[in-house]
Amino acid sequence: MTKQERINQSETRIFKAVFPNTTNHYDTLFGGTAMQLMDEVAFIAATRFSRQRMVTVSSDRIDFKKPIPAGTIAEFIGRVTYTGNTSLKVRVDIVIEQMYSDHREKAITGEFTFVAIDENKKPISIFNG
Ligand SMILES: CC(C)(COP(=O)(O)OP(=O)(O)OC[C@H]1O[C@@H](n2cnc3c(N)ncnc32)[C@H](O)[C@@H]1OP(=O)(O)O)[C@@H](O)C(=O)NCCC(=O)NCCS
Repeated sequence: MTKQERINQSETRIFKAVFPNTTNHYDTLFGGTAMQLMDEVAFIAATRFSRQRMVTVSSDRIDFKKPIPAGTIAEFIGRVTYTGNTSLKVRVDIVIEQMYSDHREKAITGEFTFVAIDENKKPISIFNG
């Protein structure tokens, strides 16, 4: 498989209904919950790309552009945007989708860096899998 094919096939999407157990007192998705789910979808995309043990080494800037209201659907999309030697970057976008219309808009964007590690927790090539 080419690198581009691996990037395409490892794109990962998680949908969540924004129910009250994930919201704050403004009735919007709590930022910490959003970041946890972003790290999770990024981790899955990184793992599906490399098929190695991956650990988060860094999270880059996360932009919260729009609040995500309770009663909407949030889609988390993780896609590999950069590949190094032992590390890669995954961009995560969160898209708000209305339940009762087809309207969608981007709400949050962030980037996470992962490193592939061996049994001794030392960095190894992301392309060995
Ligand atoms: C990940 C870890 C093994 C890397 O070890 P290290 O000694 O820093 O590794 P190196 O300096 O050899 O760098 C390895 C790669 O990571 C990249 N890297 C290291 N620190 C980075 C950072 N803060 N931001 C972005 N990239 C980073 C390097 O550029 C290098 O990339 P490349 O091989 O693609 O060029 C080590 O930092 C670690 O164990 N961290 C804890 C991870 C963890 O517990 N995460 C939370 C739970 S999943």
